[in-house]
Amino acid sequence: MIKVKKRKFLLLPGDGIGPEVIGEVKKIINWFNKNKSLDFEIEEELVGGASYEKNGTPITDEVFYKALESEAVILGAVGGPKWDDLEFSKKPERALLKLRKELKLFANLRPAICFKQLVDASSLKPDLISDLDILFVRELTGGIYFGEPRGIKPIDNGERKGINTHVYTSSEIERVARVAFDLARKRSKKVTSCEKSNVMEAGQLWKEEVKTLHEKEYKDIELKHMLADNCAMQLVRYPKQFDVIVTDNLFGDMLSDEAAMLTGSLGLLPSASLGAKDKNGNMRSLYEPVHGSAPDIAGNGIANPIATILSFAMALKYSLDLDKESNNLEKAVQSVLDEGLRTKDILSKGTKEVSTSEMGDAIISKLQ
Ligand code: IPM
Ligand code: MG
Repeated sequence: MIKVKKRKFLLLPGDGIGPEVIGEVKKIINWFNKNKSLDFEIEEELVGGASYEKNGTPITDEVFYKALESEAVILGAVGGPKWDDLEFSKKPERALLKLRKELKLFANLRPAICFKQLVDASSLKPDLISDLDILFVRELTGGIYFGEPRGIKPIDNGERKGINTHVYTSSEIERVARVAFDLARKRSKKVTSCEKSNVMEAGQLWKEEVKTLHEKEYKDIELKHMLADNCAMQLVRYPKQFDVIVTDNLFGDMLSDEAAMLTGSLGLLPSASLGAKDKNGNMRSLYEPVHGSAPDIAGNGIANPIATILSFAMALKYSLDLDKESNNLEKAVQSVLDEGLRTKDILSKGTKEVSTSEMGDAIISKLQ
């Protein structure tokens, strides 16, 4: 077999169930190295609370620079109640937000696909969600997550004031809308853009910029504008009306969690955070499951590794152009679900409960 060029991955397991689910991805990477001669070079570093415990900071400069130099970063999860009372700049989440911001990963792709084997795991009626396939494109480096001014300040009357700023520029809106339109072209050519243009100026600008770009370059795509609160309602009323949904950082955070439950479990949703391509066609990227660190179940070997494994499948596709390998991995996940193997979060009548690592092993056995 011909050896392809060495591909550098940085694994950041993080906190809670992060190390358990990343452990399964490591097994899969090793499988690809051994059986497909794909020379993936992996490095593993601390991030989040785990990094704080050892280094007093949620991400060290050394780890940050490694992330800058990697072809793709694969992250488990960060955070947990243990670090809730830390000063803001030391909180585990700051590491993730720094990576997103400084690596300029402005486009966060979050597919919400309901596998037919799992229609019963959702709290919605099966006919509403079977074959559901929505793609969220969440803006990831702007909006209220990063806007200035921000902070908690004392005010005259002895009270304190908490401030965050929701702000977007035209170009920030345009570049993420472009990603959504381009992806829609490869799907069913439908984009819904969500904002709160009825109450927020930044929402009004969002709507206008998306509309302008659509008229200029994407007339072949059907575009609908929807208020974000209405979108939240429509997602549970009739989710199949959506194909690509493009929205800002905060609404994207909330709506994608909501959509996760349409698919049965938060344990199934992968994500890709992508930057712009440089002159040589290279692009920074970070892949992570949509679920968090789930400290309540950490260490019990019951976490669902599928979201993280599917995030790795997205890395194969979007960062390494290994579409075939990516599809095979997705198919392997499907066949394991076909066989009725389930982690606890998606267990239903007539299916068999397996642990985190048994799920990983079963998926690997289907790759053979
Ligand atoms: C997500 C998470 C993060 C976010 C947290 C962990 C900072 O909820 O990726 O959806 O709010 O973006
Ligand atoms: Mg979230």
